[in-house]
Amino acid sequence: MEKKIDDLIAKMSPAEKAGQLNQRPNMAEVSTEDVANGLVGSVICATSAFAGNEMQERVRAGQINALQKAAVEKSRLKIPLLFARDVIHGHRTVAPIPLGQAASWSPEHVEAAASVAASEASADGIRWVFTPMLDIARDARWGRVAEGYGEDAFLASKLAEASIAGYQGDDPSKPGKVAACVKHFAGYGAAEGGRDYNTAEISEYTMRNVYLPPFHAAVKAGVASVMSAFNEIGGVPAVANRWLLSDLLRSEWGFRGPVVSDWDAVGELVLHGRAADLEEASAIAIQSGVDIDMASNAYVCHLPALQASHGVSEETIDEAVRRVLRLKMQLGLFERPFAEEGDGAGAQFLPTSQETVLALARRSLVLLKNSGGLLPLSSGVKRIGLFGSLSTGTRELFGTWTLDGVDSDVVTIHDALNERLPAGIELLSRHHVDESVSLARFCDVAVAVVGETPSRSGENNCVTDIGLPPGQVEWLKALKRVGVPVVAVVLSGRPLDLSWLEENVDAILLAWHPGVMGGQAIAETILGANNPSGKLPVTFPRSVGQVPIYYNRKPTGRPLDPYKRGVTRYLDSLDSPLYPFGYGQSYSRFEYSRVDRDGLTFSIDLTNGSQLVGEEVVQLYIRDEVSQMTRPVRELKGFQRVRLEAGESKRVSFALSREEFGYYGPENRWVVEPGWFTVWIGKDSISGSSVRIEL
Ligand code: GLC
Repeated sequence: MEKKIDDLIAKMSPAEKAGQLNQRPNMAEVSTEDVANGLVGSVICATSAFAGNEMQERVRAGQINALQKAAVEKSRLKIPLLFARDVIHGHRTVAPIPLGQAASWSPEHVEAAASVAASEASADGIRWVFTPMLDIARDARWGRVAEGYGEDAFLASKLAEASIAGYQGDDPSKPGKVAACVKHFAGYGAAEGGRDYNTAEISEYTMRNVYLPPFHAAVKAGVASVMSAFNEIGGVPAVANRWLLSDLLRSEWGFRGPVVSDWDAVGELVLHGRAADLEEASAIAIQSGVDIDMASNAYVCHLPALQASHGVSEETIDEAVRRVLRLKMQLGLFERPFAEEGDGAGAQFLPTSQETVLALARRSLVLLKNSGGLLPLSSGVKRIGLFGSLSTGTRELFGTWTLDGVDSDVVTIHDALNERLPAGIELLSRHHVDESVSLARFCDVAVAVVGETPSRSGENNCVTDIGLPPGQVEWLKALKRVGVPVVAVVLSGRPLDLSWLEENVDAILLAWHPGVMGGQAIAETILGANNPSGKLPVTFPRSVGQVPIYYNRKPTGRPLDPYKRGVTRYLDSLDSPLYPFGYGQSYSRFEYSRVDRDGLTFSIDLTNGSQLVGEEVVQLYIRDEVSQMTRPVRELKGFQRVRLEAGESKRVSFALSREEFGYYGPENRWVVEPGWFTVWIGKDSISGSSVRIEL
């Protein structure tokens, strides 16, 4: 392959090389003439920089093949185009948002859903997907917290490996597989104020121990490409960050795939004030390690002249072109450039795909409260009130970054409940607040579907108030006043402030934006056919005033202690979160034995003390008690999803290596320091029995 690449590069003109590094948006506006002249290397199938926030035209294989024909038949060197799309959480069969997927703590189910997405997207001619997003997020105000796997690097790393395996398989050129692209490299989730695109100030120590590990895991898992971020870190915008994109990603990690910029990020160097003009921006970006320029048109206009004007070496440009051609060859594009004709309908929304995504949606739901065992609704309930317009929402279940979902595929929460009602139970429903209150008094239980629509979630949708949208708490108060037990089903793309609900409603089922099968998953859970097993991948604060808040915080020199003065605390709030990382209830009752150890293997006996089969996510955390650089009060180092029949017991063991007790320490090197560690095994990040060990 390498020789073929070198022979091709040797034939290419400077303009054709720049063309390979040029990614154009919006297929409908890409001219076949530009393609035939070799000025386009790849196309992102999105009509705007905010594809995640708006419906997108479905991609048709015929459109793709028309442009591809111009490339492989009319261009001088017949180099095929590469077509990409933001397939963030499903293509036609829309999966839960990635944050909801993370709540499943199930790499197996995440991989299976990614495989469905790859199969459907490739059937539509897409060969490159801009996912998974691996930005660690500790700030609920940031809209894109919905799009990643939460606040923990270990969980995000495991899910990154799983989703990449689902998208790429063992060979992304195989039918039904695509090239993945991890993003946004790096530190994007640390935007100050939770405001998208804002400045991030992150030390290299925190970068290496918090924000970089999921990307490193992805590179080790063989991800095909990386997308650089919009933000700056410490004064250096990502596309100008040579340390990040070249020294670390390539020299230290050995990544050989292409780096594509985020939308117009090369051009935005001028807005950052880092470049005087697009020509200088191009020189900075190509020399920092950005291979493909998405949507700026900077490279195609300026790269050929940069050798003379800015001293950009031919080797630098050739190396970028080499990475792009290598990806195209790895995908088999030179042999099979065209998408299967037809509209790919045969591969879309198959019953097996629906089942795969439903299995993930079931495990993504998090039972936050269930006082008196109100859920699952028992036979004593004869009349269920289902209230709120979201109960009949379709697209509202999809979540942000849904480009190819079809509303009519959705079975709403209302219809899914109605279809599953046991005999003798009546379902009454109302959208309007006043009607729901007056009807609730005649019901045995009120199920209120609350939360945010996807419009408050995703890119550029950041908020200063993470409470429920205006009016919803007042409505819930009115329902409560009529004395009916209230179940709140919460749709959200972020941790919301559910403090009032925790104190006042009887049961809370967090559904995130659960995807096309979400209605069924919610109905099955309310009625007991699904036993909820999701665990929070993000901390839920008591109020936005606590943000940023996360479980793996540092102890500080004045550690949190609710009974002491002069410690790190607030005057006007409890310091604990409303719900901690890793938290989630079940209809089963899981009992943990005390943790014991054998060398570096740590085990507990888990028993299902209920009459209901269920799944529990058992979690292992460590704490490095004394270290050269401060370490978190807890760090997730293992988790296992365990299924137990009624009354069944199982031994759950975690075999750790000595390496796993290490961290990036002084001089930013991985170090395993001798000394004392505490190891917990429990049901969330604040529970569990522990042992102390000395390494
Ligand atoms: C957007 C997003 C990025 C996406 C790209 C293409 O602005 O930041 O995640 O892949 O542009 O749509």
